[in-house]
Amino acid sequence: MCGIVGYIGKQQAAPILLDGLEKLEYRGYDSAGIAVYDGEQIGMKKAKGRLKVLSELTHGGETLPGTIGIGHTRWATHGEPSDVNAHPHFNKEQSIVVVHNGIIENYLKLKKKLQAKGYEFVSDTDTEVIAHLLDYYYKGNPLQAITKIMHRMEGSYALGILFQDHPDQLYAVRKDSPLIIGHTEGGCIIASDVPAVLKYTRDVYFIENEEIVCMTADTMEFYNVDEEPIEKSPTHIDWDVDAAEKGGYEHFMLKEMYEQPKAIADTFSPRIRGQEIVIEELDMSEEEIRAVKKIMIVACGSAYHAGVTAKYVIEGMARIPVEVDLASEFRYRDPLIDRDTLLIVISQSGETADTLAALREAKEKGSKVLGIVNVVGSSIAREADTVMYTWAGPEIAVATTKAYSSQLIALYLLAMKFAEVRGVIGKEELHGYIEDLKKLPDQVEMLLNNKNRIQKFANRYLAAKDVFFIGRGIDYAISLEGSLKLKEISYIHSEAYAAGELKHGTISLIEEGTLVAAVLTQEDLYKKMISNMVEVRTRGAFVLAVTNEGNREVERAADYVIYIPQTNRYFTNSLAIIPLQLFGYYISVGRGCDVDKPRNLAKSVTVE
Ligand code: AGP
Repeated sequence: MCGIVGYIGKQQAAPILLDGLEKLEYRGYDSAGIAVYDGEQIGMKKAKGRLKVLSELTHGGETLPGTIGIGHTRWATHGEPSDVNAHPHFNKEQSIVVVHNGIIENYLKLKKKLQAKGYEFVSDTDTEVIAHLLDYYYKGNPLQAITKIMHRMEGSYALGILFQDHPDQLYAVRKDSPLIIGHTEGGCIIASDVPAVLKYTRDVYFIENEEIVCMTADTMEFYNVDEEPIEKSPTHIDWDVDAAEKGGYEHFMLKEMYEQPKAIADTFSPRIRGQEIVIEELDMSEEEIRAVKKIMIVACGSAYHAGVTAKYVIEGMARIPVEVDLASEFRYRDPLIDRDTLLIVISQSGETADTLAALREAKEKGSKVLGIVNVVGSSIAREADTVMYTWAGPEIAVATTKAYSSQLIALYLLAMKFAEVRGVIGKEELHGYIEDLKKLPDQVEMLLNNKNRIQKFANRYLAAKDVFFIGRGIDYAISLEGSLKLKEISYIHSEAYAAGELKHGTISLIEEGTLVAAVLTQEDLYKKMISNMVEVRTRGAFVLAVTNEGNREVERAADYVIYIPQTNRYFTNSLAIIPLQLFGYYISVGRGCDVDKPRNLAKSVTVE
């Protein structure tokens, strides 16, 4: 997510903006910029790279005098990290300037309409569309122009806006992306997050969806989208800075788990148009999609686990053979790839050395490479032939959660698109999958709110020595991810096993009290899974079952059951992973481990 800071008051704005943006650096960003009205015009400086670059460019803000301004740290979603794509963005006359956090889902459609009216664009961002749209509707009344664009834009936005011919007013508006407002000494400050304002005030106004604020040095006026004035009262923030950076959550990992509903929705929403799946960035004609004979998925860690899930989903839904491989293996085995093979690399960071090497190997062999990446403009994003971004926002915790969940969504969308284009599924079946996709954010949120029950259960296993995760089919894939989450943040040894494999060796490890987490979400495999659960239970295991609501039969073979809401058989991993993430998290917390920065691990493994 991007960082926003705005100020209007009696002090010089630029130093306050730079200081506020510095407090938001922890969120991750790739460029920064500030704009300040100097009494005659709006001056602006912005640059790719760290905030330090911007501060040096503006001599700590001195080269941008003025007492009203807006600032921004950008986490790229549309348009590579660059000086020109950095915020703020101007309209053509540079009389309106805007900073934005969020995703304007219909920006391409709006951009085309504005271009048809003669508007010229200098950047690849969705945000620049906002600046020109404001210009199009602005007839001297800022509030009116703002409400008009709110009726046109689809998606999420938190905006800070300056109008040159209203230099005594700073505007802010919010839909889905957070925005707070507070009074400072002789002024007002806006920010996308609490840490930026704590230095000035602990009494803040949380702007709700479709609310607009007009600030002067001394006043704040709140309006709704119908331009009606509304009353708001401040909230006192008693977090310390550390807690504020985590949005009040104890760890970034927990915060990011709770961001999964939004990350999932942000990843599928722009790609669902009515009853159609539209993946513009796929850059493949229907003929090319029909010509794909095989898909190879290559990745590391959790991204690899998402690939294993995708194998079951794509093969089941689109009937295309899928091979999944660890990037560190793929790159050294002289893989057999031909032109009819679509190679997909999955990477949150887009910088994982093994995955990048695998991508280069595949391209050398003539394969078309699709990247599923979270960090815009990363090496893998730049070197892949096409990129499908997972708009999960910056992920700080080493153990991935929201990026992994977004990877699953991207892979589901691909499977649905391929299945429909290749005529394997009809419109009705596709519609059903689309409806199931739309339910996932709320279902994930409901499971996350079940955390206390899981925390209680986890506290019984803080001293566990071995934990086994078993599943069949797509549930084996989620067992891999559940096991990795546990071991990487709690340092407890854990293994994931295809349940049918237990009798071929592993079952000898089961002792009295060994915890076995059995995932069974595939109705046609319930009976097989229950017999595996009975096998381990008769040998002393304590069985935790994660299964679909309504599967009461499991209770005779499990000691503890977590139910997930109903969805289709292909999407169950998106739900089953939630209790497993929470389980790993609470074990790690209970064992006093460094949840966000586990020992020996890095967020991005850029070396072999
Ligand atoms: C997952 O929790 C780990 N942090 C790790 O396995 C990670 O998924 C792997 O290193 C791949 O990283 P990437 O997605 O950035 O390529």
